[in-house]
Amino acid sequence: MIIDGKALASDIEAEVRGRVERLGFNPGLATILVGDNPASQMYLRIKHAACERVGIRSENIVLPGDTDEGTLIKTIMELNCREDVHAILLQLPLPGHLDPRKAMMAIAPEKDADGFHPENMGALLLGAERLVPCTPRGIIYALERLGVKIEGAEAVIVGHSNVVGKPLAAMLLNRNATVQVCHVYTKDLKEHTRDAEILVVAAGVPGLIKADMVREGAYIFDVGINRVDGKTVGDVDFDAVKEKAAGITPVPGGVGPLTVAMLMSQTVMAAELSLERRRS
Ligand SMILES: NC(=O)c1ccc[n+]([C@@H]2O[C@H](COP(=O)([O-])OP(=O)(O)OC[C@H]3O[C@@H](n4cnc5c(N)ncnc54)[C@H](OP(=O)(O)O)[C@@H]3O)[C@@H](O)[C@H]2O)c1
Repeated sequence: MIIDGKALASDIEAEVRGRVERLGFNPGLATILVGDNPASQMYLRIKHAACERVGIRSENIVLPGDTDEGTLIKTIMELNCREDVHAILLQLPLPGHLDPRKAMMAIAPEKDADGFHPENMGALLLGAERLVPCTPRGIIYALERLGVKIEGAEAVIVGHSNVVGKPLAAMLLNRNATVQVCHVYTKDLKEHTRDAEILVVAAGVPGLIKADMVREGAYIFDVGINRVDGKTVGDVDFDAVKEKAAGITPVPGGVGPLTVAMLMSQTVMAAELSLERRRS
């Protein structure tokens, strides 16, 4: 089965539109782009188009590539103070002279659309998931929608980034999967991936996962986005691996749309939480 990320994303968007209607106002998402990275510009266009579809008021703040740390932090602080901005997203990567960790920490945890703030990451580790990274959240959503039993499942993640691998490991553990996390220093990748009933690959290496590396009947989520010969491909050798998988996400059209839809959901969640705080 090909896991249709676009169809699942459209269901999430429908649910988000309902929540926006129940809120009675249009939540606000502010995105910040430093510099003019074309891939970042494209991702932001996709995110803002999704905002429009679900009734989120969005604005994009573009800062020059040579913006200093003080100016970036001041911009974030101003957004933290604005009542009409419920969620803030800092588009990564930042230019090399800026420390993403410092910038992320400046975002108010309750407006942290991407769930990267240490307070939200810490809560996630402790099993109290609220605003969490969007890609892992999308993968968990898809597993639940497909009726895949996470509890007790052998889950293997390739890649231990702060954006995907680490938070996903915590989310799977919170649901009682047995989790292995692999990375560049893993001695024999195949030894691990062959165990996986749920395999998530987020390495950014085209063709990393071949058919002999996966278990028959596995659910496979290919997070990778790579450009090869003018085409967008994932990290999994899709054509060969799909013959063995019970379910597999294509690239494009798999994890990407789920991630964007979860950003919409998290923005509305930030607005719902702000309303709750005002009422209490
Ligand atoms: N579809 C989406 O919505 C979405 C969202 C986020 C990211 N992505 C894509 O997913 C990929 C990963 O993104 P990221 O931000 O998580 O990347 P990242 O920060 O570059 O991390 C890549 C991870 O993969 C590991 N790795 C790299 N080569 C490997 C290999 N040959 N064998 C085993 N592990 C290997 C790295 O290990 P070390 O740390 O030990 O080097 C690292 O943990 C990229 O292609 C990115 O564009 C897609």
